[in-house]
Parts: sequence; C-alpha cells; structure tokens
Amino acid sequence: MRRLEGQAVFVAGGAGRLGTATCQRLASEGARVFVTDIDEAAAQSVAQSIVEAGGEGHSGYLDLADHASIDAAYTQAEKMLGPILRLHGNGAALKLMYERDLGALDIDIEAWELTLRTNLTGHLACVRRALPAMIEAGEGAIVLTSSGAAHTAETIRLAYAVSKAGINQLVRHIAHTWGKQGVRCNAVAPGPVLPDDFPNMDLYKQAMRSHRVGKGDDIAAMVAMLLSADGEWINGQILSVDGGMSMRS
Ligand SMILES: NC(=O)c1ccc[n+]([C@@H]2O[C@H](COP(=O)([O-])OP(=O)(O)OC[C@H]3O[C@@H](n4cnc5c(N)ncnc54)[C@H](O)[C@@H]3O)[C@@H](O)[C@H]2O)c1
Repeated sequence: MRRLEGQAVFVAGGAGRLGTATCQRLASEGARVFVTDIDEAAAQSVAQSIVEAGGEGHSGYLDLADHASIDAAYTQAEKMLGPILRLHGNGAALKLMYERDLGALDIDIEAWELTLRTNLTGHLACVRRALPAMIEAGEGAIVLTSSGAAHTAETIRLAYAVSKAGINQLVRHIAHTWGKQGVRCNAVAPGPVLPDDFPNMDLYKQAMRSHRVGKGDDIAAMVAMLLSADGEWINGQILSVDGGMSMRS
C-alpha cells in the first residue's frame, strides 16, 4: 500500500523500537520521513535504513525537553521537505520512568517535572510548531503516542501515566478545536511491545487476550492508517493497539 505517497512526515522521538518500525512503515507507504531523536546517531541510522530500502529518509537532533531544539529541527525539516502536513509524536523519557518514576509519596519532583516536560509539554511544543501550516493548508493529521498506562493505575510510574493521560486530552483538544479546519488528531495507545528478554514477560503473556505479544509493526500499521486518507473520519480518538489487553466498555 502507498497511502502516503509524497507526504512529508515529521517524527518526534522516532529512533527507538516503535519509532523505527513506524518510520520505516511510513516510508514504505511513500512518505518522505524526517526522523528526529535526542539520540541523533540512532535517528541517522533510521533515516539510512529508509534510504537503503529505496525510500526518502532524513534525520535531525531534537530534545523534547528543549523547545528551542524542537523549533530548530522543524525549521530544518521544512527547509528540506516544504510544508509538513503530517506529524507523529512518539518519543518519551522511558529510562527516567524505569529508574526514578515512583508513587505520589516517593517520586522526586525533578523526575516528575522532567517526565511531564518531555512526554507531554514536548509534544505540545511540536504540535504548536506544526499546526499553523496545517490550518493554512486546510488539511493535516497528527498522531501522538499514548499508553495503556493512561487508562489504569499502578503504585509506581505515576508521572508516566499522568503524561500519557495528558496526551489523551491534548489529542481531544486539537481534534475538537481544529477538526472543522481539516486537521485531525488521534493517539495510538500501544500495549506491551517489549524485547524478548524483558523481565516478567510471562506475566504479560498471561494478561494478553491474544496469542502473542505486540510487535513494532502492529503500532506502525495503525499510525500509517491514521496519517493516511483511510483515517479521514477518525478524529479525537485514543486507539488501543494491545491485543485486547485493555478491553473496556
Ligand atoms: N513499547 C511499549 O510496550 C509501549 C507501550 C505503551 C506506550 N509506549 C510508548 O511508545 C513510544 C515509543 O516507545 P518504545 O517502546 O519504542 O521506546 P524506546 O525507548 O525504544 O523509544 C523511545 C524513543 O524516545 C527517545 N527519547 C527519549 N527522550 C527523548 C527526548 N527528550 N527527546 C527526544 N527523544 C527522546 C529515545 O531516544 C527513543 O528513541 C513511547 O511514547 C512510549 O511511551 C510504548
């Protein structure tokens, strides 16, 4: 399928497991992909893999916690690709989540603030940079990345869950405010897409309502559809791609 032929797509924080699979999928559907990440070398190798596969991939440095770097990367992408009408926000401070994100009584405020600044405010900054061109064109699609963590509760990972709940509300706000002007905004909420050696993998497998755990391609396929014309009447939704794990009414 080539549903994104010629579309310029800016991907924020796209050099990790899900981001790589998604950038490659978008490029395979014809998109011209500008992948950014705080890990600039990893972003470069994602772009390189796209080029080697016959697609168009570019890369740049972007730190979601540093808004000047977001503006600089977006400006660089626009110079290279022209107006950008597709945005995918994917990056998140996951190391921080594993190492310092605890419960309400224990989390240090610095870790809380950095998580929100990266996972939530950073994506707001990307959206603010992207929206004017979309509004002017009367067309645009944004897909942010939420998590099943926004729909449940745990004793730890409070800042991560709050940041993803904030993403859900940011999505609804954008969809509500600019839908009539042709701009759609949705989020994909992945279930566990984990490396094979992840601790407690058996527990995750037991919790599945599916015969397998998730793959990067499962998430990539949803992002590609939402960014394409096939997703034209989907707006303001948080789409769980998790093998049925979060089934709810
Ligand atoms: N893998 C899962 O099971 C899962 C489940 C639910 C949600 N998610 C969400 O999917 C997204 C991708 O997760 P993943 O599993 O691929 O993780 P990952 O760690 O492989 O990728 C995260 C990417 O974000 C980048 N990043 C971190 N801090 C950044 C910053 N300050 N600025 C720019 N980039 C930054 C990292 O360098 C990395 O490339 C995240 O938003 C995550 O919360 C993942």
